[in-house]
Amino acid sequence: MSSVYILAIESSCDDTSVAILKDNEVLSNVVCNQRIHEKFGGVVPELASRDHLKNIIVTIDAALKEAAVTLKDINAIAVTRGPGLIGSLLVGISAAKSLSLSLQIPLIEINHIQAHILAHFIKNVHAENKLQFPFLGLIVSGGHTQLVLVKNYLEYEVLGETLDDAAGEALDKGAKILGLGFPGGPIIDTLAQTGNENQFTFPKAHIQELHFSFSGIKTALLYLIQKEVKQNPDFIKENLNDLCASYQKTIVEMLINGVQQALETTNLKQIAIAGGVSANSKLRKELQQLSSAKKIDTFLLPLKYCTDNAAMIGIAAYYKYLNKDFASLDIVPITRWEGFTNK
Ligand code: KG4
Ligand code: ZN
Repeated sequence: MSSVYILAIESSCDDTSVAILKDNEVLSNVVCNQRIHEKFGGVVPELASRDHLKNIIVTIDAALKEAAVTLKDINAIAVTRGPGLIGSLLVGISAAKSLSLSLQIPLIEINHIQAHILAHFIKNVHAENKLQFPFLGLIVSGGHTQLVLVKNYLEYEVLGETLDDAAGEALDKGAKILGLGFPGGPIIDTLAQTGNENQFTFPKAHIQELHFSFSGIKTALLYLIQKEVKQNPDFIKENLNDLCASYQKTIVEMLINGVQQALETTNLKQIAIAGGVSANSKLRKELQQLSSAKKIDTFLLPLKYCTDNAAMIGIAAYYKYLNKDFASLDIVPITRWEGFTNK
């Protein structure tokens, strides 16, 4: 079979991204970050949609240019159908439908969470055939925290997930309480490097089965800050690095506990992590330690494929293309996508 060229669009949250793939190889992966949300300390959906509208065409053009291909070379258009913000998704889906219709090529709908995990199959990310099915997947981002049994490229079983906030959301909300910027995860990661992670103790939620809960720790941080600042207005400033390190450590420990339990329950020997929080240095270090202690193979992604990007949408679309799994032109966004299939 000759090579397949896919143009992939990701617009589920606050990053407009377009990638061009030739089979499983990424030719370009342009990510246009929206800075507008920083001053609000969180993503403002309406502003995100407006920014996607402004960025989508230029991002498509930039991705084509960087890949040195034209629209005539493209065999299929891939787009994130969900989960995500409705206005943001609509911008990407409308652009994708228009391209598919005008170029008369198939449209491929992609589940954003599934795509995060499939980023591990992008060419040259890992040595070929190293990551083998079935394996355990941990997807940790600003919107999702899930442990999944990955049976095949397109077949998954959710083993556990957060019952409230996502791990990234807990980091972002924690950063907001500490008066830091947005997104808070990478800021906490940096500040924690020089902090004492045992200085403060935060409660860990113990949830049944393989589920998580991160809303309690955020509240514990809020109460601690309210109490201490009353006595010492400079409490945050004087303890910032220790607060970040202790808070981050507790979140990472909860994730690692979940991973450990899932490995025991499933007897799987390989784990692949994905999503924005998988860029976290403490989580990466702890997973690597776990993997040498338990003789498990841990697969991490390069940072550019951890956070939201269209290359992961493209790789997921490549496997759907091989399966001739195409979408109809009347698809609408799925804001809350349970499981991985809409069939
Ligand atoms: O996957 P992603 O880009 O978007 C979603 O699908 O949510 O993840 C964004 C999340 C944010 O919560 C951000 O704070 C977090 O990933 N994040 C990090 C790091 N880099 C990004 N969290 C901890 N440490 C990091 N280095
Ligand atoms: Zn994501």
